[in-house]
Amino acid sequence: MHPVAETAVMPPDVKGRHPDFDSTGPSMESSLPISNKPVHEVIREKLDSIHDDRWEADEENSFFIGDLGEIYRQHLRWQSLLPRIEPFYAVKCNPDPMVVKMLATLGTGFDCASKTEIEQVLNLGVDPSRIIYANPCKQRSFIRYSQKQNVKKMTFDNAEELYKIKALFPDAELVLRILTDDSNSLCQLGLKFGAPLATTGRLLRLARELDLNVIGVSFHVGSGCFDASAFGDAVCRARKVFDEGEELGFNFTLLDVGGGFPGADVQDGITFEKVAAILGPAVDQMFPSNIRVIAEPGRYYVASAFTICAHIIARRTVGRDASELHGESGDEHPEYMYYVNDGMYGSFNCIIFDHQEPVAQVLQKDNVFMAEAEWSMEQDYKCSIWGPTCDSIDCLSKQTSLPQLDVGDWLYWKNMGAYTICAASQFNGFKKSEVHYTNTFI
Ligand SMILES: Cc1ncc(COP(=O)(O)O)c(C=O)c1O
Repeated sequence: MHPVAETAVMPPDVKGRHPDFDSTGPSMESSLPISNKPVHEVIREKLDSIHDDRWEADEENSFFIGDLGEIYRQHLRWQSLLPRIEPFYAVKCNPDPMVVKMLATLGTGFDCASKTEIEQVLNLGVDPSRIIYANPCKQRSFIRYSQKQNVKKMTFDNAEELYKIKALFPDAELVLRILTDDSNSLCQLGLKFGAPLATTGRLLRLARELDLNVIGVSFHVGSGCFDASAFGDAVCRARKVFDEGEELGFNFTLLDVGGGFPGADVQDGITFEKVAAILGPAVDQMFPSNIRVIAEPGRYYVASAFTICAHIIARRTVGRDASELHGESGDEHPEYMYYVNDGMYGSFNCIIFDHQEPVAQVLQKDNVFMAEAEWSMEQDYKCSIWGPTCDSIDCLSKQTSLPQLDVGDWLYWKNMGAYTICAASQFNGFKKSEVHYTNTFI
């Protein structure tokens, strides 16, 4: 039975649910301190520790708060709503060492895209059978590495990859990644990967000729999928390829339903509950219980677990119309350009690569830590928000409205855990934002 209720799953008493989890979270030995305080308190303490009259260089750098408790809540929600489907966390989404360690402790599997990701997971003592090398186009030396490490499960979607695998790892357990309809997703991975159904028969016949071990089918409906029915449609396509495989003499045992699950904080539109209500029953109807079903969620686990805080390092006052731009306006309703110390080349690369529109909120103004209710009472001014580099593409928001802020004030952005830190560069010499951890699951 798959619960269809549109309600968030309340975390049960965690004691007894998992042997490695006590009231303070998973018992992970860590060199990094993990607080147990609410996110806003951890942020407040961090800001209180920064004194503008005597700070060291870098002290007021932007920073993340990573809430490991939120990841655990997401895990429990997954187990409750999709109990048959085993999550293999997509490391690429956020390879933060504490996140990966926590999920390893919780017993998830891992979807790795490269040797480095496989290595990171194996170094935590995770059994190679809990890894799927889910990149259909792999570097040859990485296939050899997988063979040495006994990471057997890997995806393919083209004939050339089969020849490579035959030469380097003939005992691999292969999963055929098929193309699905990803037209309702932010990131349409089908442009690059996935065998169209018209080609799967040919690929499976070739695998048979090469005496390769194809164990099942995978798909990815696209990252940031906003149409829950895409999952149901993809399961139907996977069933067709299972049937095709059976006709060719394969005995498929694995269905991999990929990623594309929404993060926790979606208020309307698609929700995990909606996806689970379609995906769970579709899998049960079309695949008997002896078929193992795994998924590769990335965003789902981490998006809502990370909040980023950035400091206003510069402000430029501009006029309201074009003629006043580039000059001090003297206008009594000025508009502002705020420059903050993380940007498009850093954590906010998600604006370009992940098609996100992060929403800035006021964190601290005139040295006063502000609750949302307080700053929403203030008069708003039109403004734009820019990153710290010398490139004009480095813009976080072309037009928004915020209370009047000044250099030294702080902004924050919620839901910044997915596809942010992992693709951040240090362009112009700006360091990546550090992560401070808390665990709000108490
Ligand atoms: C093969 C594969 N699996 C899983 C994921 C994770 O997707 P998501 O973060 O949307 O769950 C991705 C993302 O690009 C991917 O390429």
